[in-house]
Amino acid sequence: MRTSLSLIAVLCLSLLVSAQSQAQLNLMPMPSSVQVGTGQLPVTQTFGVDVTGFHDASLDSEIERFATRLSRQTGIPFWSKPGTVPTLTIHADHARAAVQKLGEDESYELTVSDSGAKLTAPNPLGVLRGLETFLQLVQITPTGFAVPAVTIKDQPRFPWRGMLIDVSRHFIPLDVLKRNVDGMAAVKMNVLHWHLSDDQGFRAVSKKFPKLTGMGSEGMFYTQDEIRELIAYAHDRGIRVVPEFDMPGHSRSWFLGYPELASGPGAYTLADGGIAPAMDPTREETYKFLEKFIAEMAKLFPDAYFHIGGDEVDGKQWDANPKIQAFKQAHGMKNDQDLQAYFNRRLEKIVVKNHKITVGWDEVLHPDLPKTIVVQSWRGQQSLAAAAKQGYSGLLSYGYYLDLMWPAARHYAVDPMSGDAATLSPEQQKLILGGESCQWAEWVTPENIDSHIWPRNAVIAERLWSPQNVTDVASMYARLNAVSLDLEWLGLSHRSARMHMLHRTAGDADISALRVLADVVEPVKDYNRWDETKQGPIDFHGALNRMIDAVYPESDTAREFAGLVQAFLQSSATDQAAEARIRASLTLWRDNDARLHPLLDQSFLLQEDEPLSQNLSALAAAGLAALDYIDKAQPAPDAWKTQQLTLIEQAKKPQAGLLLMIVSPVEQLIQASAAHN
Ligand code: ACM
Repeated sequence: MRTSLSLIAVLCLSLLVSAQSQAQLNLMPMPSSVQVGTGQLPVTQTFGVDVTGFHDASLDSEIERFATRLSRQTGIPFWSKPGTVPTLTIHADHARAAVQKLGEDESYELTVSDSGAKLTAPNPLGVLRGLETFLQLVQITPTGFAVPAVTIKDQPRFPWRGMLIDVSRHFIPLDVLKRNVDGMAAVKMNVLHWHLSDDQGFRAVSKKFPKLTGMGSEGMFYTQDEIRELIAYAHDRGIRVVPEFDMPGHSRSWFLGYPELASGPGAYTLADGGIAPAMDPTREETYKFLEKFIAEMAKLFPDAYFHIGGDEVDGKQWDANPKIQAFKQAHGMKNDQDLQAYFNRRLEKIVVKNHKITVGWDEVLHPDLPKTIVVQSWRGQQSLAAAAKQGYSGLLSYGYYLDLMWPAARHYAVDPMSGDAATLSPEQQKLILGGESCQWAEWVTPENIDSHIWPRNAVIAERLWSPQNVTDVASMYARLNAVSLDLEWLGLSHRSARMHMLHRTAGDADISALRVLADVVEPVKDYNRWDETKQGPIDFHGALNRMIDAVYPESDTAREFAGLVQAFLQSSATDQAAEARIRASLTLWRDNDARLHPLLDQSFLLQEDEPLSQNLSALAAAGLAALDYIDKAQPAPDAWKTQQLTLIEQAKKPQAGLLLMIVSPVEQLIQASAAHN
C-alpha cells in the first residue's frame, strides 16, 4: 500500500513537473514534440549565429531580423564577431520555392543544450518557423537571459493556416498590414487572405480599369508597387498572399466607376445602405471585363490561389431586372443560386485560364462547379464536411471570426476536424486544408485593428498548427499571455493602443480608475453592435473613439476573477487565499465609481459609461455582502437575495455596447450566500 501510494505521489510529482516545465515554455503554437532537457543556454552579448548548408539573400536577411528581434527582446546589442564560437547553428538542405506553395515543407528540428543550439530544416521555411520557436523560448532567469535545454521536432498539422484582413470597410495602410504579417509569422500562420474589395471600397489599383480605385476607394488604395512590396514582405516571412475580389455580390464599389457591370440602375455611392447591388451575370460584357481584370490581377499576385468571394449575394436586383429574369427562364434556371452557379462557372474558367485555383465562400458550393475549387466555410462547420464529401477541398472560417468578439477559448474549441468532419473518411479528411481567422473591418481602424486580432488570433494559429490533442485551456491562456507580451516587440499595438485610446477620452486626467473599469468590460458579442445602427446603415466614416473601441475583446481580469470565485465555492468557502483575492478585487471595484465619476462627467466620450461604472460598484458591493453572509455561515435573507438578483439582471444588459464581465461570478456568490445548507 505504502509503495503504491508513494508511486502515485512520484507519478503525480513528475506529471506536475512536466506540466510546469511545459507551462514555463511559453510556446504558441505548441510544437508537435517537445522534450525538455536539463540546463540552459545563456543568451549573452557573445551570442552568434552560423549558417551551414543552403542559404540565400532571403535567409540571410531573416537571420538579421532574428538578431534584431533578439536584441529588442533582451536589450542586448548583438553583432557578428569573427572567430567566436556560434551559439546557434542553422542548417537548411535546399532552397524553398520561389513562389511559396501550399503544403511546402515547413518542418524543423531545434536542439538546445547548455553549450549551443542547432536548428535544422529541409528548407528556409522550416528555419523561419524554428527561429520563431527559439525567440519564444528566450526567458529571463536569475542569472541572465537564457533558452532552456530542449529538443523540438515540429511540423504543421494543416498546410493552410491563414488570416483574412478586410481592408474595404476601413482601409488598413501597408505598415499596419506589415506588422500584422509579422505577428502571423510569429505564430506560424502562412496565408494572408487580403479582402481587397467590397461594397465600401475597392483597394487594389488596376491599370486596365483605373476607375475601380479612382472612383471606388475615396483615395484609399494600394498601388501595384505597394502590393508587390507587401507580397515580398510576406514571402520573406513564409506567408502566401491570396487576394480576394468579392463577386458578384459585395461589389458596390466596382459600380461607381463601371456602373454597366451592375444589375440595376445607379447611381452608386459607397455609403449606400439597403439592397446590396450585384454584378449582372447575363451580359457578355461583364465577362469581357472580368477576363481583362483577372488576367491583370493574376500576374500581380503570384500565389496559385485566387479568391472570388461569392458570399451573401442579394438577388433583389436580379429579381427586379426583367432582362435577367428572361435570361434565367431561357436557360432553365430555377432560382438565383442557379444563376450564381452559372456566373461562378464562367468566372472559374477565367481563373483557370490564368493558371490559378479558385477559392470561394461556401455559397459557391454547387454540383456544376469542378472539384478543383476550394470552399471556404463560414456559415457553419457542416458545409466543410459536405464539401469534402463531394470531393471539394475546404477551409474552415466558421468559429474563427475575430470580429465577433468571442473569448479565445471559444475559438480554441473549434477544430476543423470536429463535428461532421470527424466522420469523414481519411481520404476526405485530406481535403480539409486548414482554416483562416477573419478580421472583418466594420468596427476597426488602423488604430485598434491590432487589438481586435491579437492576442486571440494566436490560439487559432495553434489550433491549425499543433496536434489535435493540444486542447488544455488553462495552459493555452498561460501561454497566450506570454505570447501577447512578446507580440508587442514586433511593433503590434494590441496592448498599447488601449492606453492611448483611453487617454484620448480622458484628456490629461489620471486614467487609473478608467482602466479599472476598462479591465472588466468587453464589447457586445456576435453582430449585436449592429443593433445600434438599426436606424440606418453603418457610418463607415464615423469616429471609432468610444470606450467600446478601446477595450480588449476579452477581459483577462474578469476571467481570472471568475476562476477565483469558482475555486472558492468549490472549496466550500474554505479557500482563504482565493477569498482574500476576491475581496481585494471587489473592494477596488466597489470604490471605483466614486473615483471615476468626476472623469466620466467631464468627457463627452465617457458620459455614456456612467451606468456601467455605477453597476460595477453596486455589483461589487453585493458581492462583498454575499461574502460576509458566507463567512458568517448565515444564509442571506430572501428579500436581500431578490433585490440583488434584480441588480444582476439589470447589470447583464449592455451599456454603451459594453458588457460587465463580472456579473456571472457575482451572481454565483449571491446564490451561494443564500443557499441553505
Ligand atoms: C462572410 O462573412 N460574408 C464571408
